[in-house]
Amino acid sequence: SAPSEFAERMLHWQLAHGRQHLPWQQTRDPYRVWLSEIMLQQTQVTTVLGYYARFLERFPDVQALAAVHPDEVMALWSGLGYYSRARNLHRCAQQVVAQHAGAFPRTAEELARLPGIGRSTAGAIAAFCHGQRVPILDANVRRVLTRLLGFGADLSSARNERLLWTRAEALLPHTDLQSTMPRYTQALMDLGASLCAPRNPSCDQCPVQDLCVARQEGAPERYPVKTRR
Ligand code: ADE
Repeated sequence: SAPSEFAERMLHWQLAHGRQHLPWQQTRDPYRVWLSEIMLQQTQVTTVLGYYARFLERFPDVQALAAVHPDEVMALWSGLGYYSRARNLHRCAQQVVAQHAGAFPRTAEELARLPGIGRSTAGAIAAFCHGQRVPILDANVRRVLTRLLGFGADLSSARNERLLWTRAEALLPHTDLQSTMPRYTQALMDLGASLCAPRNPSCDQCPVQDLCVARQEGAPERYPVKTRR
């Protein structure tokens, strides 16, 4: 079917052209994956690398992070920006220790109830660490999928946003989830961060160009559609 064709192409492309050696890809430790995803929410990979290493050196596990004064977290975060992330990071660590015995919950649904973890970050953690069959939909992936699907509905509407999540679910792989979900998730992120750029996307090199509605329409930059509120 068309959905599994998309997943297969993405999986194949990830092995040949995607990122494989980022530090947070070398582990399934939810603490390490969670930390990377929070840092990467609004910050470039090259900037995150140094902060990530220093953070893990000072706070090797969630207990170590939960135990310190928030000022100490803020000091290590200094320069990364969007400081509400650091406050929520510390609150989340304390909640995982106090309410989950130091173990991050395993489902995306439960993860999304923790401070600073939205639906997409929850999906990324559950897919990367546990091979859970759940989608992500950050800004880059939203661009990839709206273009692929020719999804032209206005995403400032919560209903349309939910519809896109449902379409994203339908595209997920069905087999070998433990190995395919991490790679598929990374593939979407990598395509959105490289070829499927906001302006002048490199459609000629795209592994799913012949499946892409926006490409067929000849106007990939039209997507995603979001009117000003
Ligand atoms: N941006 C968000 N998550 C990422 C990841 N796992 N790898 C690279 N960039 C990302």
